[in-house]
Amino acid sequence: MKRDKNIKVSEEEISIQKSYMEQVRGLNATQEKKFSVITFGCQMSESDGERIAGMLKEMGYSYSEDTDEADVIVFNTCCVREHAEEKILSKLGELKALKQKNKDIIIAFGGCMAQQPHVVEKIKKSYRNVDIIFGTHNVYRFPELLYYAINGNEMVTEVLEIDGVIPEGLPILRKEGLKASVSIMYGCNNFCTYCIVPYVRGRERSRELDDIVKEVEILAKEGYKEVTLLGQNVNSYGLDMENGMTFPDLLRKVNKVQGIERVRFMTSHPKDMSDDLIKAIAECEKVCEHVHLPFQSGSTKILKKMNRKYTKEHYLELIEKIKKAIPGVSFTTDIIVGFPGETEEDFKDTLDVVQNVRYDLVYTFIYSKRIGTPAAEMEEQVDDKTNKERFDRLLKTVYKHVDENNEVMIGATEEVLVENVSKNSEDVLTGRTRTNKIVNFAGDKSLIGKLVDVNIVSQHRWYLFGELE
Ligand code: 5AD
Ligand code: SF4
Repeated sequence: MKRDKNIKVSEEEISIQKSYMEQVRGLNATQEKKFSVITFGCQMSESDGERIAGMLKEMGYSYSEDTDEADVIVFNTCCVREHAEEKILSKLGELKALKQKNKDIIIAFGGCMAQQPHVVEKIKKSYRNVDIIFGTHNVYRFPELLYYAINGNEMVTEVLEIDGVIPEGLPILRKEGLKASVSIMYGCNNFCTYCIVPYVRGRERSRELDDIVKEVEILAKEGYKEVTLLGQNVNSYGLDMENGMTFPDLLRKVNKVQGIERVRFMTSHPKDMSDDLIKAIAECEKVCEHVHLPFQSGSTKILKKMNRKYTKEHYLELIEKIKKAIPGVSFTTDIIVGFPGETEEDFKDTLDVVQNVRYDLVYTFIYSKRIGTPAAEMEEQVDDKTNKERFDRLLKTVYKHVDENNEVMIGATEEVLVENVSKNSEDVLTGRTRTNKIVNFAGDKSLIGKLVDVNIVSQHRWYLFGELE
């Protein structure tokens, strides 16, 4: 569905937020103030966290690892699974003591959890230590909300129900290094029946291609070597815009940015992985041979109940097609165990896909009931014991494949982007292959940021060890 208007946040609104940033900066001029942003969840949430951090830095706060010494603490939350929500609320509770010691601390609660009305009610009632509640659609308005929280005594709450907009031109504070993530679109239209994301992040909206390319060019100038293009379903990039631009078009453009050595992307949806996209990955020399392609369940019956819009056979055919077009491609995936109605037969279909594809990494999840999603109302919820047993069987199979895939690499030469010195030894460097595997090897610090050839000598499941060629 095409959107009917330009949904970029107006320049006027952006300049209003910039003036609030200046006002808060003025308030901080005489003291050294610190902030801490605690992010939970996916890479999209990480990306929001970087935007919040960017605005806070602009407002005169400096980053602190230690929450105890921060003047502003932002909880940037995730609600994809119940367990994550519980953990977040318990951490938020821990801040009550901190607030009692120092009433001037500002605690902000934002992100996906804050988009759910029942959570907002709970925070208002039981977490009076919170000063600001904000959602996913108004991250860019954080400076204004913070200004009012500093200058008032009431809890400042702003959670917008309307579909989000696209803010451009606000600061982003990324971790220093060689790798940067760039959001290319927000929201999701897919409504998989287990998933809360479309309810808390709104409909798909793509950033303008030129804005994305400009951002990548700036990153290259700043010394970043690798970019990951982010979206809930990057395959449908551009479908909401009038200009006919597609994700393969974007990949081809980003591939040309000078200074960038590697391009990655996530996440892909099997139903939208077009032939042109496969061709673009194969053609573009900087786009790495790694596809994260969540299949969630191997059972066509369960896939239908999940509203995934593909079958087991279609998924496996797609994998074959990608393998053929992109030699040496690495696959990773997401799997949910215990979706309502999943029988032993259905689970065996999941194992069958895993056996077939032999992934390099699998993110495995036990199904978690999310209020407001269709699956939460479904009968035949699978019991905890069965879930745990299936989960363990799945992990065992996955580990076996990871080890075996790594064994095959021993003796091969891999191109590694050197990222850092290893945490454990000053003389050991660490980097990643194009297929995103970690490789450690002895070498000099001066190689950081370079692409080098490394001969693989041993494998240790989550990393490989090698020698410089
Ligand atoms: N229960 C368990 N896993 C879930 N995911 C999304 N929603 C749920 C849920 N309700 C998983 C999916 C998705 C990943 C980001 O999180 O596998 O791909
Ligand atoms: Fe959730 Fe499905 Fe959208 Fe992924 S594609 S965010 S699993 S609804």
